[in-house]
Amino acid sequence: MNYPPGPSSFWEMIRLLIKRQIDPIGFYESMFTKYGDMVFIRGGKHNFLLLNNADAIEQVLQTDAKQYKKSTAYERFRLIFGNGLLTSEGEVWKKQRRMMAGAFTVKNIEKLYPLINEETEKMISHWKESDVVDLAEEMNGLTLQIISRTMLGELRDEEKKILRAAVQDMLKYLQTSRHLWLQLFLLIFPIKDRIAFSIKIESKLPLKSTRNFFKSIDSINHLVHRLIETRRLQGRNENLLDLLIRMTDSDDGSGMTNGQLRDEVVNVLIAGHETTSNALSWTFHQLLKYPEVMSKVTTEVRTIIQGETPTYEEIEKLIYTKAVFQESMRLYPPFWRISRQAQGPTKVQEFDVPEGTDVIAAIYTVQRSPLYWSEPLMFRPERFLEENAHHKFSYIPFGAGPRVCIGIHLAMIEAISIIATCLKKYDIAPAFSSDPTPLLSLTMQPKEGCKVKIKKVSL
Ligand code: HEM
Repeated sequence: MNYPPGPSSFWEMIRLLIKRQIDPIGFYESMFTKYGDMVFIRGGKHNFLLLNNADAIEQVLQTDAKQYKKSTAYERFRLIFGNGLLTSEGEVWKKQRRMMAGAFTVKNIEKLYPLINEETEKMISHWKESDVVDLAEEMNGLTLQIISRTMLGELRDEEKKILRAAVQDMLKYLQTSRHLWLQLFLLIFPIKDRIAFSIKIESKLPLKSTRNFFKSIDSINHLVHRLIETRRLQGRNENLLDLLIRMTDSDDGSGMTNGQLRDEVVNVLIAGHETTSNALSWTFHQLLKYPEVMSKVTTEVRTIIQGETPTYEEIEKLIYTKAVFQESMRLYPPFWRISRQAQGPTKVQEFDVPEGTDVIAAIYTVQRSPLYWSEPLMFRPERFLEENAHHKFSYIPFGAGPRVCIGIHLAMIEAISIIATCLKKYDIAPAFSSDPTPLLSLTMQPKEGCKVKIKKVSL
């Protein structure tokens, strides 16, 4: 067998496991520096292939996508996402994807666009002159509000509270439930179904976060099922849930069951909220760090937007602002890696990949690789104004291939609109001067938040 280079001694594995838990990015960087841009790790009964090579990533995510399924890492998410788009496979995924694509069209997003402005305006209306505002917290609340309205329509205050608390508890559980002692135990005593085993153990631990997590799943299920029932009876056409309820599959004419609708709603609420919110927080950090970029964005926004908030047509003209958002996602991709599992023995380039290997596309490092990017650590939005300037698979913040993000258009429109609305009305300055540290969990977020001083602009 011809495997890519990688660590093999047992003690090195133990050391690496600890490093991965404490400093995941440092772990990937040191692997690629030591062994090259494809690294093979033998982990007891389970192998890993780490990729920092855009051609290899293209082969796994696109060309040979059929040979892979979502990796075992996604099993943990199944507790929340059920059999929704993020976690389903095969025919179930194909059918759901077809129907969901019918709801997330450019036309439908355009129709729902005014609510993005409305919610952003609402957020800003609470800001007071010379306040210190944590933009990370603000973006978190705002993007949840936007995605829940897009998907479910206007919720009552108590429903919003339930939703926000449940989403936070779920994400907290995903962040904290991978215990190092359990990972080490499984390395020393490898068992076949290690993920199912660790999920079972984690879910039985007598911890507050575990109790809150299961309570949250119950409350979100209860809320979403009630909304589905009400919407079915009302038969309106106001949000994406209404569309999904009425949608039938073009192949077999069937619609979605309440269970499927629940899964897709929860998938979209979680996948479409944390990611966009973190991408925005990192973008504001970059704008604060590079005053000349902030000045260009502000000038563009204040020249192009005529009213209080941007119209849909004006968003398309904010070319530099869009490039800033793209460049920020290059350096700080919210989803910092994507993983797949080989369904049978296969090959990546000249190397053998045994069945069951977890193959990980290291988005964070490939988007900073000097092989694909000139001055990779420089924040230079202009690179996104040049055409075909980079290898397509060296920039994959939204993933790639058949499982590419379904919310790209919504996320881009939403992010540009929010940045533009904030900067049209406010000057923003850093409240503290320090570089943010990436906090890695399901997504990558700035650990310290994004605290800024705001000053209203006279229009
Ligand atoms: C800046 C914001 C966003 C980023 C960076 C992002 C990133 C990603 C990535 C990397 C994937 C692929 C995961 C994989 O291949 O394993 C993905 C999938 C997905 N995203 Fe997003 N996303 C964002 C916004 C959204 C929004 C707004 C929605 C809401 C509609 C959404 C819904 C989904 C869904 C449902 C999938 C699964 C698609 C499938 O497997 O068919 N995302 N996203």
